[in-house]
Amino acid sequence: MLVRVNEENKQFHLTNGKISYIFHVMKNGHLGHLYYGKALTHREDFSRFQSYNIPTPSSCHPYEDDPAFSLETVRQEFPVYGQTDFREPAISIRQLDGSHISHFQYKTYRILEGKPVLEGLPATFVEKKDEATTLQVILEDTKQKLILTLNYTIFSSGPVITRSSHIINAGEESVYLERMMAGSIDFASCEFEMVQLSGAWSRERHLKERRLVMGIQSISSIRGASSHQHNPFLALKRPTTSEESGEVYGFNFVYSSNFLAQVEVDHYETARVMVGIHPFRFEWKLDTHQSFQSPEVVMVYSENGLNGMSQSFHDFYRNHLIRSVWKTKDRPILINNWEATYFDFNEDKLLEIAKEASQLGIELFVLDDGWFGKRDDDTTSLGDWWENNEKLPYGLEHVAKKIRENGMEFGLWFEPEMISPKSELFLEHPDWAIETPNRHASLGRNQRVLDFTRGEIVTYIYKKMAAIIKKTNLSYVKWDMNRYVTEAYSAALSADQQGEFFHRYILGVYKLYQQLTEEFPNVLFESCAGGGGRFDPGMFYYAPQAWTSDNTDAVERLKIQYGTSLVYPIYSMGSHVSAVPNHQTLRVTSLKTRANTAYFGTFGYELNPLELSDEEKQVVKHQVENYKQYRSLIREGDFYRLLSPFDNNETAWMIVSKDKREALVGWYKVLAAPNPRKQTNLLLKGLNEKADYAIEGKEGTYFGDELMFQGLSLSTEFNGVNKGVSERGGDYQSDVFHLKQV
Ligand code: DGJ
Repeated sequence: MLVRVNEENKQFHLTNGKISYIFHVMKNGHLGHLYYGKALTHREDFSRFQSYNIPTPSSCHPYEDDPAFSLETVRQEFPVYGQTDFREPAISIRQLDGSHISHFQYKTYRILEGKPVLEGLPATFVEKKDEATTLQVILEDTKQKLILTLNYTIFSSGPVITRSSHIINAGEESVYLERMMAGSIDFASCEFEMVQLSGAWSRERHLKERRLVMGIQSISSIRGASSHQHNPFLALKRPTTSEESGEVYGFNFVYSSNFLAQVEVDHYETARVMVGIHPFRFEWKLDTHQSFQSPEVVMVYSENGLNGMSQSFHDFYRNHLIRSVWKTKDRPILINNWEATYFDFNEDKLLEIAKEASQLGIELFVLDDGWFGKRDDDTTSLGDWWENNEKLPYGLEHVAKKIRENGMEFGLWFEPEMISPKSELFLEHPDWAIETPNRHASLGRNQRVLDFTRGEIVTYIYKKMAAIIKKTNLSYVKWDMNRYVTEAYSAALSADQQGEFFHRYILGVYKLYQQLTEEFPNVLFESCAGGGGRFDPGMFYYAPQAWTSDNTDAVERLKIQYGTSLVYPIYSMGSHVSAVPNHQTLRVTSLKTRANTAYFGTFGYELNPLELSDEEKQVVKHQVENYKQYRSLIREGDFYRLLSPFDNNETAWMIVSKDKREALVGWYKVLAAPNPRKQTNLLLKGLNEKADYAIEGKEGTYFGDELMFQGLSLSTEFNGVNKGVSERGGDYQSDVFHLKQV
């Protein structure tokens, strides 16, 4: 039994032996929060967890005879503003008379085995009903006849709860939903550090931490995509929490558009966390009998530090978010022609690259941007989804056939949501591009955005893409999105529905993904948004891997992949070996270090293999063989972060198979230092203490306890004099160790 209800006290206890989440109905009928954290022994009555503050002259209270009961001081589940609470609310509704007061009171509850789908939205799921239980608590605002349902799903394995909210207008009047968060929790204390993954194009998801202080601290996006700048994730960790020990509460929003994740610390030093669609420019008109479903937030509790939280997110997403057949299948090692050719290619050039790549053991050829319309640079043709006859005179089918004859699969790049002002599509349908009437329409990368709030536009793009996937028998689609939305407005929406624009836009994107993944279940989709601009769980529901960043530099990737691993399984991160000098940083790193970084993701190449020397080709061949050995481990293993690139000149991480019989360790040193330590031992994690491991390339065997407590000794570094003896030196060193139990 994952949900226990005390009917008399109206208390709800969700627990799976790992976590407990407890709340109750308060005297005013609203829901009060009691506890969230490590599992507690069930008892019939938890009401003593609710603390009422001593009233102060400045606090207001709904009941004349009970000044101690104020919404300002009680912890709540889904707070409203304006009835004595002065913190930001989880829901806000404008009514026809201009008023904003809502009074949602408890009505009833339902318990469902399993987890219902969220119509039109990506969401976590169960395959068998006994994997989760859902508690739906139903509240009503009787004046407006609005029915609010709060959904809580607790999973039988893992310290995970998901939350979402749903509202029906059962009244006679329209209302306007101005804010509808997925969930909100009031923590009794603010003794936390907030962890976030923030950055920019080409340096996405860097780890940032700050101590909570009184006031609001938040991360958000109002760009029409989850964004390069802030990932829809935040965690609260105790100040003493480390990678392996201490409490962490993680929140990840399953959504790819405008979001807000905020923590409000009040004057009593409590912390209110809420996550949901960003209320800025959001307003949803709810006519009579209409409903609105929020996306969901995934909440993970860890008592085993940040790494414990990450492993729970990874397992949870592998089992309950990624739906594709690729969930349990090895992903092909790919070569992508983008950095090899950019727009400058023709059929011969592509086939030469593919032939060489195939000889190196690479399995999938991805034709990136520039294969369609008249596209020779980024100024034209988005929307004209037919082959560029100048470059591919015999058509795409011919290219696909030739590539398959080389023993490789064929994949193609699309940017479905975009339109170039210089395109046939724009000539025919200038009104399909998003713009605000009588306002200048801004460009981004010379392109405009299609109005995906409109069904007919989504259907048009669907037909075009489906036809190409079919005729070329595609194995893979890279779905790119290279600019954010500006001058947001839809000609198809009425004036009082323009606040629905961003959400309707992303629903259009999800619909297209849904149709294509349903019709082509075996095609591997990789999402991309100018690199990692939409790297979120909403996308992973449809596309099991994402292009992590446009930055392919091995050193920069250490930070990007390390940060990303906080939440997302490493098998979700597209990571490729590219040419040097690197195209984003001009840095030169060895082929070895580039692969050693890229192994920890879905592996591929982003270079011209014809430009490699014979010696380099042999190295690549060997790397490809290596990855084929590693990839099921990369897909399923437990990931451990060992040394952080945000604190050190060295980075290290490892992945251990669930049965602990195999592991892969990556170690990287960015800058060489003179006269380094003689011996460097890397302390491993997650191994079986008593198991004896062989390490490829090293003599002897090693017990797990030795490797974890004495450490793995790294190779000898050049120290200024030991030239013939040292095995490594210079900047950007790295080593990968493959361990197998003997
Ligand atoms: C941005 C992507 O991240 C790149 O990998 C490449 O596909 C370009 N767009 C193509 O325009």
